[in-house]
Amino acid sequence: MNTLEHVAAKTLELNAIGVCNLSLDRPIAFDAYQANRDTGGFILIDRLSNNTVGAGLLHFALRRAHNIHLQHVDVDKAARSAQKQQKSCVLWFTGLSGAGKSSIANLVEKKLHALGHHTYLLDGDNVRHGLNKDLGFTDADRVENIRRVAEVAKLMVDAGLIVLTAFISPFKSERRMARSLMGEDEFIEIFVDTPLEVAEQRDVKGLYKKARRGELKNFTGIDSPYEAPESPELRLATPQLSLDAAADAVIATLRLRGVIAD
Ligand code: ADX
Repeated sequence: MNTLEHVAAKTLELNAIGVCNLSLDRPIAFDAYQANRDTGGFILIDRLSNNTVGAGLLHFALRRAHNIHLQHVDVDKAARSAQKQQKSCVLWFTGLSGAGKSSIANLVEKKLHALGHHTYLLDGDNVRHGLNKDLGFTDADRVENIRRVAEVAKLMVDAGLIVLTAFISPFKSERRMARSLMGEDEFIEIFVDTPLEVAEQRDVKGLYKKARRGELKNFTGIDSPYEAPESPELRLATPQLSLDAAADAVIATLRLRGVIAD
């Protein structure tokens, strides 16, 4: 505050002031704060708690939003998925690390492939080796991880594919954001509901042990939260279900929803 110097930052602490670019999900009318204090100021309200979490003044609109238009294409999502004899969609697997998301998604993809369907599996560990290798496991990085994955999944749904995503995706708000990017009936949330004790006991990658020893910070379920879905399209209680039964339950859901016909 004393020097008003600008310093690069990714987050704002309590009472901190920042200069930032805002992007919204719809156009809004406003004036510059200098021109009109009433229509140039705003507050940010947390959608879940209804608490005011910030206040701001608007300087000007960024022109890039005005100058970019959506390009019309003739071969569209419907044409691409009809050619593949399926209804493109995303199967969004969520659950703790070690819950079985990747294993179930892998088997579902194998079964769909054998039936002649066109699929793609986006898996947390793999995507974090490429597109998202700049991201870690702070809340902010997980939010960005899921934002990018949701955008990629949206492109793949547009390509006519049945997309499977296997990410912890611990926050309700990000899963809601991913859902909002897709069309109606295109987002199938699958909660791989494995209790922490079971996932921790399996500990296939030895990460829970590391987290318990304090060698791995922000580990989901230990010192980073997991917000379970309240009304997923499908819930798989994995300790009671075999891998094969879980995958079959997913395939049955796809038939029921008309994603696949066979
Ligand atoms: S997410 O929270 O951003 O959705 P994502 O599914 O991409 O997570 O990655 C989770 C995988 O990263 C885990 O299966 C685990 O192998 C590994 N991992 C490494 N560090 C952590 C951590 N701190 N918390 C959770 N998973 C971690």
